[in-house]
Amino acid sequence: MEHVKIGIIDSGVGGISIFKEVYKLLPSADYYYFADDKNNPYGNKDRNDLLNLIDIAVKELLTKGIDLIIIACNTATAVAIDELRTRYSTLFVGVEPFINIINTSPELSRDDIKVGVLTTNLMKNEERFKFLLKKYDPQNKITHHVSRHLALLVENWFYADSKNKFKQKIEDELLLLKELKYTHLILGCTHYTLIQDIIQKTLNIKTICPSSGVARRVEFLLSNAYEADHYASSILHFYSSKKNEWEKLKISKIP
Ligand code: DGL
Repeated sequence: MEHVKIGIIDSGVGGISIFKEVYKLLPSADYYYFADDKNNPYGNKDRNDLLNLIDIAVKELLTKGIDLIIIACNTATAVAIDELRTRYSTLFVGVEPFINIINTSPELSRDDIKVGVLTTNLMKNEERFKFLLKKYDPQNKITHHVSRHLALLVENWFYADSKNKFKQKIEDELLLLKELKYTHLILGCTHYTLIQDIIQKTLNIKTICPSSGVARRVEFLLSNAYEADHYASSILHFYSSKKNEWEKLKISKIP
């Protein structure tokens, strides 16, 4: 039986946070993950270079007969998703910082609440991100912060056998935010979601990420094409641009 094929693109492992949520809702789909680890971090790139890199990733995924592509990267979504939708007829779903939570969660309207959003550097000049802030936070209640290093630190932490060295570096990178005493932090990079426990403990804060909302959007868009059956994918087809090859990862072994 042919299963729906879902493609996922990120600069590295960050998109795994999205994959896990989508897989919970659509276990019978086949998954193809493009990790552009030769070119990360995306957040410190020139936007035109990033646009070209995403185009290469999309073309590679389309050779697999993909039905829907998730741009599982806030930075790449901001830079490329509008352009991709004009170039290709494939379905695309992107990821954006969940700014609207300040309007939808009564808990966040209290006076003692202080909300920040943390993104990569490239995001700060992106029109799509600026529009998002203007639309959902016209009174500038949320403060925007940029980290140039955190995504790459998370990438290294993910692959490290001994995680403590990178955990310490991650905590150092978060020091500035600690002084600002936020109560909530909107995570504007899928890499950050992978370390949300560390962020919450280090900053004594609640983190907010959009992964489950992205998964529901994918489920909705594929509702006609997806057939639930007793089969669940046990393999994630994983492409590393550094290795320039596809390999099969056991989903149950992915941390
Ligand atoms: N995970 C990506 C994001 O959500 C990109 C991180 C990077 O490579 O800078 O923005």
